[in-house]
Amino acid sequence: MCGIVGYIGHREAYPIVIKGLQRLEYRGYDSAGVMTYDGTDITVCKTKGKVADLKAKADQGNNAGSIGIGHTRWATHGVPNDVNSHPHVSNSGNLVIIHNGIIENYAPLKEELMKRGYTFQSDTDTEVLVNLIEEIQKNEKIKLGKAVQLALNQVVGAYAIAVFDTKKPDEIVAARLGSPLAIGVGEGEYFIASDASPFIEYTSNAVYLEDGEVAIIKRDKPLKIRKINTDAPVDTYIQELQMNLEQIEKGGYDHFMLKEIYEQPSVIKDTYRGRLNSAQGIIKMSGIEDNLEKFLNANRIIIIACGTSWHAGLVAEYIFEEFARINVEVEYASEFRYRNPIINSNDVVIAISQSGETADTMAAIKLAKEAGAFVFGVCNVVGSSISRESHAGAYTHAGPEIGVASTKAFTTQITVLTMIALRLAKAKGTLSHSDFHRYLLELELIPEKVKEALETNDIAEEIAATFKDVANCLYLGRGYNFPVALEGALKLKEISYIHAEGYPAAEMKHGPIALIDEHMPVIVVAPIQGHYDKIVSNIQEIKSRSGRIIAIVTKGDTEVRKLADYVIEIPETSDALSPLITTIPLQLLSYHIAVLRGCNVDQPRNLAKSVTVE
Ligand code: F6R
Repeated sequence: MCGIVGYIGHREAYPIVIKGLQRLEYRGYDSAGVMTYDGTDITVCKTKGKVADLKAKADQGNNAGSIGIGHTRWATHGVPNDVNSHPHVSNSGNLVIIHNGIIENYAPLKEELMKRGYTFQSDTDTEVLVNLIEEIQKNEKIKLGKAVQLALNQVVGAYAIAVFDTKKPDEIVAARLGSPLAIGVGEGEYFIASDASPFIEYTSNAVYLEDGEVAIIKRDKPLKIRKINTDAPVDTYIQELQMNLEQIEKGGYDHFMLKEIYEQPSVIKDTYRGRLNSAQGIIKMSGIEDNLEKFLNANRIIIIACGTSWHAGLVAEYIFEEFARINVEVEYASEFRYRNPIINSNDVVIAISQSGETADTMAAIKLAKEAGAFVFGVCNVVGSSISRESHAGAYTHAGPEIGVASTKAFTTQITVLTMIALRLAKAKGTLSHSDFHRYLLELELIPEKVKEALETNDIAEEIAATFKDVANCLYLGRGYNFPVALEGALKLKEISYIHAEGYPAAEMKHGPIALIDEHMPVIVVAPIQGHYDKIVSNIQEIKSRSGRIIAIVTKGDTEVRKLADYVIEIPETSDALSPLITTIPLQLLSYHIAVLRGCNVDQPRNLAKSVTVE
């Protein structure tokens, strides 16, 4: 949801900012802009379109200087166009701002500023904020940092901002509330960014601003951080980054999405490595061990998440209930936060989020904490807001997920959640000793089986060529594979713009079966374990209405093969672990359909990787 980058130091800022924006483009890509300061003048260049369009335009003009800020946008207020792009400049021409987030009370603030003679070029909330800072600075005759603080105290909403003042050309002021902001600390230089990827090749030292903090960033001077509302100084905590450059590059693949699909065998292994030992019958995650009693005494587990993470939560519901016999409810975070839910102090809330920044999930966590529930985060991004807001948690070790469509985050989330369920089952004795050991062994075999499932790439590509021009698609599954059907449909619609719906297969006859005719492709997830006979009869129902069937089946399947137009074979595993395998061909199918339709797979229209506004 918008990416921001800034640099202040001794190097040329422009190439650093542009490259940084390219790395952050997954966060928003409908327009982009950059400001550089050459010691005398600022140059602002902005454009609708991609960072590449911005670069083409900005390369032509003056872009010299060792201070720069840049922005890649996912529009909230104001359509994507040159004028609404960031940076925004104040009326005097002195202050320049970039902003990721949303200022909810911008309308009354704008009205007040207009009464005082301010004029506005854009429709954005951000232009209001920069002029509010200017107005405060003018009236109070105070330093930029203080003016930013006072302005932010009047603002309702979420933000990560960087502000530059031509009258104080050796500093940038940055602040955050609800949107992420990292500061890379180099030798006499600083980098500002929505995540660490823009500065990973320059420094491995970073400070993550906390909500409600403002940083005064001056080259060659130590960083100063204060609380926005109380002005209290905050100790600077410099962290060493774990990320490396290779992880955030495409590594020979055409798209990040494909690279990330292929990374699944290794990242699933990374996720259980050191936590699971089948030979010794051990599952150990410190976040669970330290809070085992809370889980064991829980009345119920409430899972909150959005999108793909919500689908992982649905898979977890089946696993927790079967393995650990704990009552589980799975909620869309966006609904949960607004429907006055009943939360008790003996509820355990599991919040699942790849980015760890999703605004709805974050708000749902706050609500649950206020009601006294224990919150356990399952996040991928280390140090993210949700991981810090949770009482405890377990990271997925998927590495940076850059393709907007989530793939490896989903399978690693399921891996973590399965391990939690197994650990609880062990403590409660709800699985037999032999079943517990069997599941540990099977989990250890999953990476090899995912590798085998990836060998379906060619057949997925072939099937994609046949179906790339369809208008609609149905995905069906039962039990553990019902959430997989939902996830398959989500993957297809978000990257190829084909309308797709996921359904529990048995629900067909309650409505969707009316859609079936010879034009309707129906993708059925039908592994041998689970409700196989039932799903075979569902397939027969589709067949007798001339639907075109693409079935995901277990190797050696004979029954479904007789009925389906196309089969994709995957290795066998237990029903409970099957989503880790069945989801792979569905990811590949969506990927190839999107590529063949000429869609931008890594940056689908209207979407952003990290949804930091509600
Ligand atoms: C789908 C997708 C989204 C995210 C959702 C939640 O491919 O990526 O549906 O899953 O926006 O994001 P996180 O997991 O970051 O909270």
